[in-house]
Amino acid sequence: MTENDFVVELDHVSVMYQTHLALRNITMRVREGEFLALLGPNGAGKSTLIKTILGLMEPIAGTVKVFGVPPKQLGKRRTWIGYVPQVTNVDPNFPVKAFDIVLMGLYGKIGLFRRPSREDKEAAMRAMESVGMQDLTDRRFGSLSGGQQQRLLVARALVVNPKLLLLDEPTTGVDTATSSSIYDLLSDLHGKGITIILVSHDVGIVSQYVDRVACINQSLVVHGKPTEVLTEEALDKMYGCDAMLFLHGPMPHMVVKKEMAGVIGLEDLKKEER
Ligand SMILES: Nc1ncnc2c1ncn2[C@@H]1O[C@H](COP(=O)(O)OP(=O)(O)OP(=O)(O)O)[C@@H](O)[C@H]1O
Ligand SMILES: [Mg+2]
Repeated sequence: MTENDFVVELDHVSVMYQTHLALRNITMRVREGEFLALLGPNGAGKSTLIKTILGLMEPIAGTVKVFGVPPKQLGKRRTWIGYVPQVTNVDPNFPVKAFDIVLMGLYGKIGLFRRPSREDKEAAMRAMESVGMQDLTDRRFGSLSGGQQQRLLVARALVVNPKLLLLDEPTTGVDTATSSSIYDLLSDLHGKGITIILVSHDVGIVSQYVDRVACINQSLVVHGKPTEVLTEEALDKMYGCDAMLFLHGPMPHMVVKKEMAGVIGLEDLKKEER
């Protein structure tokens, strides 16, 4: 294996916002073609880690390499990266049409001031179809539901045919059927050899799809295959609470706080599984 087989390399990376240390001494590598889930509680630094890989945040210590170079030196290779940001509140009057949001994904390729070609528009349409949004092309982005906005942002990231796809909680606020279709889509892309880093809180679901998980809580708690690293001890450490893991077969199915397990009658289920 050569150095270049790693798409993302983080070496002793620490990241700070003004006075707050968001990430501490993270060392992690992501191989070409790997599907990695980034797990951790709210405020753990997951989005910060994604932004650091994108070069939007500069570490105060350590080094970041993407496709073998620091993110700021990616140049044209920046279009190899598709990014689905965590959806925050979007102004409902935000005037841009859904289709144009997806086309914006191509601006890195076609430039801001050139008109998109027919091929560009066809690529945007294909991306919209892949997330089942083809009937909503003319809708204002702000008028779409949270889940529809989320799907559209996935389409925008896919339109460039990325080699590396970074998704920050793409299934938040998305119904179960759509969420499954997003996971199936990611699974297909993984099958095609695309490297995927997915931030998620669906510990149980993502474990069924990904090769490895990295659990962070400011520092890297564990990193490895889901079946090997998603232990109760690791979850306790990561979530900073008395967490319990319910298993169906080898994969974690659900994580709850221990005291909640009693309240919602899951203690017995846990005993049955043993
Ligand atoms: N722009 C900012 N300025 C100051 N502090 C910030 C900023 N953005 C994030 N933080 C802080 O950095 C820490 C990590 O934030 P981050 O958004 O990376 O967490 P996260 O793991 O993505 O959480 P969530 O699951 O809620 O999305 C948090 O304590 C957060 O409050
Ligand atoms: Mg986040």
